[in-house]
This record gives sequence, structure tokens and C-alpha cells, in this order.
Amino acid sequence: MRITRIPARSTWPLRQLVLRPGMPAESCRFPHDEHPTAVHLGAWDDAVLVGIASLHGEACAWLPARHPYRLRGMAVHPGRQGSGVGRALLQEALEVARAADGDLLWCNARTGAGGFYRRSGFAVEGEVFELPGIGPHLLMYRRP
Ligand SMILES: CC(C)(COP(=O)(O)OP(=O)(O)OC[C@H]1O[C@@H](n2cnc3c(N)ncnc32)[C@H](O)[C@@H]1OP(=O)(O)O)[C@@H](O)C(=O)NCCC(=O)NCCS
Repeated sequence: MRITRIPARSTWPLRQLVLRPGMPAESCRFPHDEHPTAVHLGAWDDAVLVGIASLHGEACAWLPARHPYRLRGMAVHPGRQGSGVGRALLQEALEVARAADGDLLWCNARTGAGGFYRRSGFAVEGEVFELPGIGPHLLMYRRP
């Protein structure tokens, strides 16, 4: 498995399959996809895209930082979940933030994925909150 940078549009099919099943394709385009600081990472098994993660510069209302980065759209193909793809993508996202002088990587994590982020050193800030149509989330973060 190798990780490369990919265009935003290459993330949309996996986002739809894993994060927005049954929802329209437009729901997989995120507002910051083309932000100047946006980086989209793809994990590849040969020529097959098996995992994705995106990050871009964005402040978090609850966590002070000089150069905050937000992680979005972490998704691993169902056939490859639990085999280290997500951890490798998260480590690469931390590396990207670090290289850009980022001092915070934060995300709205699905509560079901909280343990995954904790295992990579992320902490929780605040209480569980609901994202309409998607479900319960936690604000999680790590200092890169
Ligand atoms: C959550 C997700 C990105 C994790 O990626 P992954 O490739 O399956 O995870 P990894 O195999 O790299 O797991 C790394 C560690 O986290 C653990 N882990 C993975 N998913 C977990 C979960 N949902 N809850 C608790 N622990 C989890 C693994 O057991 C492993 O633990 P270890 O350190 O003891 O070996 C992936 O399962 C996924 O796409 N899930 C569905 C979509 C989703 O919830 N995305 C996150 C949106 S916030």
C-alpha cells in the first residue's frame, strides 16, 4: 500500500460509498475541497484506491492554534477496514500538517470512530453533538 496526493474529485466515489451511502453525489463535495491549503490523500493497493483523507487550514472555534488544520472525509473501503490503511492515512495527514507548520489537527469524528482516533493520539474536546442526517460526533484533535 502506498499513499499519494490526489485531486479532490478522486475522493468523491469513496466518500459516497463509505460516508454518504444512499445520499446524492453532490453531498460528497465538501466546501473546502478546492481551498488553497487543501491536501487530499489517497491510499492505493496497486491501482485501486482503498482509502482517503483530506485536510485544509481552518480554525476550530473551541481550540486555539496559530496554524490550525481540519481533517475531513477519512474513509477506508469496507473490504480493507481494520488493516492499517486508516492509521497510515492519519499519520500522513499529521505529517502534512507538521510540514506546513500546523500546530493543531482537528476533526468532527463520528462517535463510532472515536477509538480509531484515540489510538493515534487524538483527544476529545467537549461533549457528543449531532450532525443532522449523519449522526453523533465528537470534536477530536491532536497537536501534530
Ligand atoms: C474509521 C476508519 C477510517 C479507520 O480506518 P481503518 O483502516 O479501518 O483502521 P486501522 O486498521 O488503521 O486501525 C488502526 C487502529 O484503530 C482501531 N480501530 C479502527 N477502527 C476503529 C473503530 N471504529 N473503533 C475503535 N477502534 C478502531 C484498530 O483496531 C487499530 O487498532 P490497533 O492500534 O490496536 O491495531 C475506517 O474504518 C472507516 O472508513 N470507517 C467507516 C467510515 C468512518 O467512520 N470514517 C471516519 C469518519 S470520522
